[in-house]
Amino acid sequence: MANKLFGKNLISLTELDKDTVESILAESAAMNKLLEEKRSTDVLKNRIMAALFFEPSTRTRLSFETAMLRLGGGTIGFSDASTTSTIKGETLSDTIKVVSSYADIIVIRHPKAGAATEAAKYSDVPVINGGDGAAEHPTQALYDLFTIKMQKKKLEGMKVAIVGDMKNTRPIHSFAYGVAMFNNDITFISPQQLQIPTEMEKDLVKRYGVKIKKSDSIDDAKDADVVYIPRIQKERFSDPKQYEKFAHYYTINKKFLSKANDDIIVMSPLPRLTEISTDIDDMKNSVYFKQAAYGVPVRMAILKMILSK
Ligand code: CP
Repeated sequence: MANKLFGKNLISLTELDKDTVESILAESAAMNKLLEEKRSTDVLKNRIMAALFFEPSTRTRLSFETAMLRLGGGTIGFSDASTTSTIKGETLSDTIKVVSSYADIIVIRHPKAGAATEAAKYSDVPVINGGDGAAEHPTQALYDLFTIKMQKKKLEGMKVAIVGDMKNTRPIHSFAYGVAMFNNDITFISPQQLQIPTEMEKDLVKRYGVKIKKSDSIDDAKDADVVYIPRIQKERFSDPKQYEKFAHYYTINKKFLSKANDDIIVMSPLPRLTEISTDIDDMKNSVYFKQAAYGVPVRMAILKMILSK
């Protein structure tokens, strides 16, 4: 099958059709096997990835860098924009024009929704969205789907509960498109004030005909096959009191799991605050650290497919 990702940007999960997602997951499985068998590849030898992180990150930046190094390539970049000429007033467009003359591919994380789209406009090389404001985090969704496939041995026909801040959480936005694409039913569980944006809900139904339920009770996640629970996004609240109101609204703990579907898997993009109790970390249902580890093979697959035919 032709590699439809070759030479392309990756800004939103909505740009990918099901065949392309399946081909990324197949390549991810090959990369995962390579890592498990401790084999190496230099398929991206002499290629350079620039990681431009205008917002904090642990997993996204380090797993992209690891992925590029494991493919035989090199990395440049920054994790603190205050050490760059942005602080002198350089615009994002000028930064991107310059960096795209240094590197073969750019991964950008930025606090502003739409920043990755803007970067792609000015770049001569492919741009990957590593998270733009509250909008999207497409490579996160791809390794979320990979995790489901590895754990459940299927991707379709399941009940998926998504819990937390639907309004501000970019991994939720990308993940919802991913699970809807594969014909899963979604229950969005959130406080009334943090519900899924209406436009997004309508778009999910229009694109994929997905069955959506909405609730504010964590009890409605108990019969799910997958429960996805990111932290409440403190940095997106302008009023700290509003954040405090919702910070501890939901928790997945032993009590929840004792009443839930025995095979439920608990997923999170991490970092974890208090929404997942640490006392379930060793339970078979908890797959969030494994999920984070899958960031490397999936990002290897994405880099390889964008940069080589
Ligand atoms: N999941 C995720 O994006 O984590 P980081 O913010 O640490 O990159």
